[in-house]
Formats: sequence, structure tokens, C-alpha cells
Amino acid sequence: MKKYLLLFFVSTYVFAQNKTLEQKVDSVLALMTLEEKVGQLVQYSAGWDTGTKTREPKEGHEELIRQGKIGSFLNIIGVEQTRRLQKIAVEKSRLGIPLIFGLDVIHGYKTTFPIPLAEACSWNPDLVELSARVQAIEASAAGVNWTFSPMVDIARDPRWGRIMEGSGEDPYLGSVMAAARVKGYQGKNLKDDNTILACAKHFAGYGAVEGGKDYNTVDISERTLREIYLPPFKAAVDAGVGSLMSAFTEIGGVPSSANKLLLTQILRNEWHSDAFVLTDWNTIGEFLVHGIAHDLKEATKIAIEASIDMDMESNGYHLYLAELVKEGKVDIKYIDDAVRRILKAKFKLGLFDDPYKYCNPEREVKVTLGEDLRRAAKQVALESVVLLKNENNLLPLNENIKSIAVIGELAASKEDPLGPWAQQGIPETVVSILEGLKNKVGNRIKINYAEGCKVDSEDKSRFEEAIDAVNRSDVAIVVIGETRDMSGEAHSRATLDLPGVQEELIKEIHKTGKPVIAILMNGRPLTINWVSENIPAIIESWYLGCEHGSAIADLLFGDFVPSGKLTVTFPKGVGQIPLYYNHKNTGRPYNPENPRFTSYYIDFSLEPLYPFGYGLSYTTFEYSNLKLKTEKIKAGDFVKFSVDVTNTGKYEAKEIVQVYIRDLVASVTRPVKELKDFKKINLKPGETKTVEFELPTERLKFFDINMNYSLEPGRFKLMVGPNSKDLLETEFELIN
Ligand code: BGC
Repeated sequence: MKKYLLLFFVSTYVFAQNKTLEQKVDSVLALMTLEEKVGQLVQYSAGWDTGTKTREPKEGHEELIRQGKIGSFLNIIGVEQTRRLQKIAVEKSRLGIPLIFGLDVIHGYKTTFPIPLAEACSWNPDLVELSARVQAIEASAAGVNWTFSPMVDIARDPRWGRIMEGSGEDPYLGSVMAAARVKGYQGKNLKDDNTILACAKHFAGYGAVEGGKDYNTVDISERTLREIYLPPFKAAVDAGVGSLMSAFTEIGGVPSSANKLLLTQILRNEWHSDAFVLTDWNTIGEFLVHGIAHDLKEATKIAIEASIDMDMESNGYHLYLAELVKEGKVDIKYIDDAVRRILKAKFKLGLFDDPYKYCNPEREVKVTLGEDLRRAAKQVALESVVLLKNENNLLPLNENIKSIAVIGELAASKEDPLGPWAQQGIPETVVSILEGLKNKVGNRIKINYAEGCKVDSEDKSRFEEAIDAVNRSDVAIVVIGETRDMSGEAHSRATLDLPGVQEELIKEIHKTGKPVIAILMNGRPLTINWVSENIPAIIESWYLGCEHGSAIADLLFGDFVPSGKLTVTFPKGVGQIPLYYNHKNTGRPYNPENPRFTSYYIDFSLEPLYPFGYGLSYTTFEYSNLKLKTEKIKAGDFVKFSVDVTNTGKYEAKEIVQVYIRDLVASVTRPVKELKDFKKINLKPGETKTVEFELPTERLKFFDINMNYSLEPGRFKLMVGPNSKDLLETEFELIN
């Protein structure tokens, strides 16, 4: 009876139409006991049965839902399961507050899209938004209402396995992609039943782990943190992201989940965000391992006081938070603020109106793995590919060829194209490169497949078979790279060479004298120096998801012209790392005429193998006529300029026009180049377009000598071109 009275109270007072969101949240908060408040801050994972692959709440957790002591789950999937648990929360707990179900939908739920690094290489935010939108449509139909994505960590070190999960090395491009993904996941209105809450992670600086070793120490200056690593988070916040996840790592001695500078000062006080913050897995528990807390209770106090709202899996909040408040050791205001932020998200998702809005079994069946989702995945895959080399226009392939040798374990793999973090991706849904080619050519062209070698094995016994297949063919397509478990979380590498004997295999194939095309399938830049020098055509395909093979086949035959460009620098050797385009000049930049006492290596090149922004097309483009509207620009105005781009080749194609600036003299040193804008345009053969830009001077701001984010007047170099190296230049002056 008491329960029904309460529910009546909730529905009468809380949902009154004329209340603001804040008032609704506060009226729920007013009903909650301390234990129920803490419950909203607790998240647990489903348990896994690796045999049956079923996921159920762990023992005792259903009872905790009944008691109002769990606010969220991760890794519970499917309408049946989410509905069942939601029913317990809504109908059996005292206040009936709905649960939220989080999941790592990183590049797809079941329909797998390209890995985020690949998608970023499209330089097409609309397409990236579409990808996130479609992922949300599929995940939301399966009971999931919150994704732990986008991962917006800037990565300057390709050894770091998680580089595949972000958008690359550039803060501007990373920000554009972060906003696009948030918009895609969250849609126009979170109340719609096919939108899900996004989560910008990992706040912050995780990509700067020393030596590229996952979970390692991060020690960067506040300036680098703010200028390089934080902008994509700020962009996600500005796009209305509903949540953030703190990182595993420390910065300068303070683990992220304890970091008041990040969580309180920057996120709350400077950015005025009310998105709630969830920890990464057990990071509160890891305070003990870091050595900043004696026990879990102390760790819990540190986390809540730093403004961590939800505890993923450490148990600290569940076990100690209420006790800490009762003992007077933690102020209840921290808990109230955290609960408010979480309830707000639940209200925004519309869960108080309809807690079962994600639990429709017919919708789940209808939407999951739909043809329209696949079509979107292919569209995104096509633009994610980067053509690295194409000597003598070997590509696209001539329709008159009679036979193709397809070589490599990865060529036939239906698992690897899914990439790391493939969530519920199913190998059987994947079109391998071999299948894609076979589907494309039917009986017209003979395909001779041979594995040659495994990706990660020293066994060369099957080289002969591969060489024989090549000798019997007009052209060889060799697919080399990494298996999908060689990148991703906890999969850092100390070398970036092709694993196993793949390089030896392609060397042997090259000796046959047949034209060879190398297709890379990998989650990070690789030091493929020999391949780059000797193989006439090279395609970077990353992991493209379920349509990998069909997209590659379209590109190989010119049904689609490659248009992707790298969003991360390819080094020539691990010793060059970190190697990124937006570096500082130093007081002694390399002087090739007299290198002594300048900044260089006595034993290795300074040049990247492929620079940031690089990528070819089947056509060629010429840039000319970089023209400023005016040379003196007032702070607050726009830098207006245009450049002519001409398609000088034979194919209609897309080109990514990139804009960089350099602040020539400032109160602190500035990078030699910084990407500030770009446009993806389409040009017919022979066509010239005058591409106009209006760059807000706001984008010229930086953290000055006093750490104020400000505009400093002075001269700037403006550079425009097809990549970060080959640029037209002019100068302008910013005046007050
Ligand atoms: C990862 C997160 C992920 C979480 C939940 C952690 O190991 O670092 O990115 O969201 O697991 O699966």
C-alpha cells in the first residue's frame, strides 16, 4: 500500500507538465533515502557465460535493483533481458526509478562500421554522424540506451593500441568528429526511442601514455593537455554530450578519477557541463594500486569529492558512500549533485515517461542487421579508405585482366575486418576481401587465392603456393597487416613492422615481376618502408567492418574513387615517435645544409613515411590562387580567403582541401602548423572550383603565457593544400 502511495506521489508531483527539468529532478531527489541516492551512482556489469555467450546480472544484483541500489548496468543486451531488469527497477523498487543500460557501441552494435580511426580518414563529419546515428538506431532497438562512445582521445603514438578507437592526432579534426558522433548517437531529441546517450571518453589525456604502453603514466603540461587533448572533449560537451568517462591514467601524479582540475575545475566550472561522469572500469579501486588511497573507503571519498558521479564496477560507492556520509566524512551535497546529474540524463532520455521505450521485441527483430544499415556501413567504408601509392596508375584495375592472385590470410578473413571493439559483430555477416572480389568479377576474371603465410607466424612453407598463384595471374593483390586483436585496449606494440614473415612474402611476390597491389588491414600506422618504396600501389583499408570486401572491390575497379586522407602520421621508424605534424619549431630546427647542433637524428630520417592529411585519388588535383580578401583582420572577424582547386585527371572525384595556420610570434611558442579548417569537395574532370573559407578568428586563440585562452595580435602564416606538407602559403595580420 505504502509503495503505491509513493508511486502516486511520484506521478502526481514529479511529472507535472509545467515543471522544469531541474524541478522534476529535485522532486525525485526529495523522495530518496541516502541508500537510494547512492544506488543511482552504482553501475555493475553483466556476468558472461563464455560458453553459452549469455549475459545475466551477477548473483545478488537483481535483489539490489529491487532495493534501489543499482542505477545502471553495462553489458546487458537484448530487449528480453533489459525489459526484465527494467521491470524490476520500475515495478518492484520503492521509487521505480528506471535503469540505464550502457554498452561499448564503438563502431556498431551488430552491423559493424569502420573503426573510428578509419571513419575519421573520410574527413566527412556528415558521414561520421550518419554512422553514429545508424549505430544508435540498431543498439536502441536492442535495449541499449547509452553508448560508451565516442572515444575522443588524441593519439600521437601509434604504438598505443587504442589509437584505432579515436580520430587520430589532430585536436581540430578530433573535435569535429567528436561533435559529429555525439550528434549522431543522441539525434535531434534524446526522447526519441532510437537515440541513445553518448559518452565522451576517456577524460582525459589517456592517449599520451608514456611509450605508447596502455594504462601507462601520463605526464604532460597543462598547456598540452588544454590545447591538444581537451578540445575534442570540449566539442563533445558543446554538442550536448550526456556523459563522460574518466580515464584509467594519471596526469602528473593525479589519477583521472581523482582529478579535481579535470572533473571540477575544467568540466564543471569552466565548461559549465552538467553531463554526468562515470569512471572507467574499477578506476576507483585502482587508486590503491596507484598508491593514492590506503583502502577502498578512502578511494571512494577521493572520487566523489573529485566529482565522479557513477562508479563502474569498483564497488566503492556501493559499500562505503552512505557510511562516509553518515560518519560526516563526505558532504551529502556531493551525492545530491551526482544524483541530480544522473536523474537528469534519465529524464532527458524519456525513461521516466516510458521506461520500456527501448524494449520492443518487434522493433529489435525488424531493425537488427537490416539491409539499410549495411548500406550505410558500405557508404562509410568507401570514404574511409586511403590510397597511399599508385605508381603509373596501376589502379583502378583494368577490366580486361583475365586473372587476379589474391594473397594473404587477411584477404580471406571474415573476422579481422570487424576490427577491435566489434561489440556484437558477427564474422558471418562480413564480406571478406576475397569474397568481395569474387562477387564483383563473377566468372569474368579468374581469382587464384593462396594464403602465403599467417599474419603472425614464422612459417614460410606456403610461400611457394602463393608465388605459383601469382605466376598464374595477371596481377597480385596482397593483403597484409595486423590481425584484429593486435590493436585495441591493452594491445600496444613496441614495433610497428609487419608482423611475422609478411614482408618476406611480399618481397618474394614482388620478385615475380607481376604488378603488385598491397592492401593494408591494420589498426594503427605501420612502418612499411620497404613496401612503400617497392610496391607500386598501396591501399590503407584499416578495418572497415561488415562491408570491407565489397568496398575494397568497388575501389579496386574504380566504381568508387578513393578520397580518404590520413588523420595520423605514419612514421618510418619507432625511434621517431612521437612524430606529429603540429610540432613546435624548437630553437634549433633541423638545418639540412649544416645539421650539426640542430635538432635531428644522426642515424635516421626526420621525415614521416606519410604525413598527416595525406591521401591520393585516381585523379590529380592542382591548387592555385590562394587569395586573402583582406590582409589585416580584426579580432572577432573572419579570415576570408579562397583557393582554386582543379581536377587535372580523368576521374570525377572528391578532394579534401585543408587549411593550416602558423602564429609567427606569440607570448608562447606555437606549432609550425595547425589545422584550422577543411572542406571536402567534388570535382569533375577538368573542373575548377574556387573554394571559399571564412575562418573565425576565435580559432586563432590559444593559452597565452598567463594561461588565458586569448587572441594575440600579430602575423600569421596561412597554408592551404591537399595534405600537411604540400601547401600554398600567404600571410595575414590579426589586429585589435
Ligand atoms: C575501457 C572502456 C570501456 C569499459 C567498459 C574499459 O576497459 O577502457 O573504454 O568503455 O572498459 O567496457
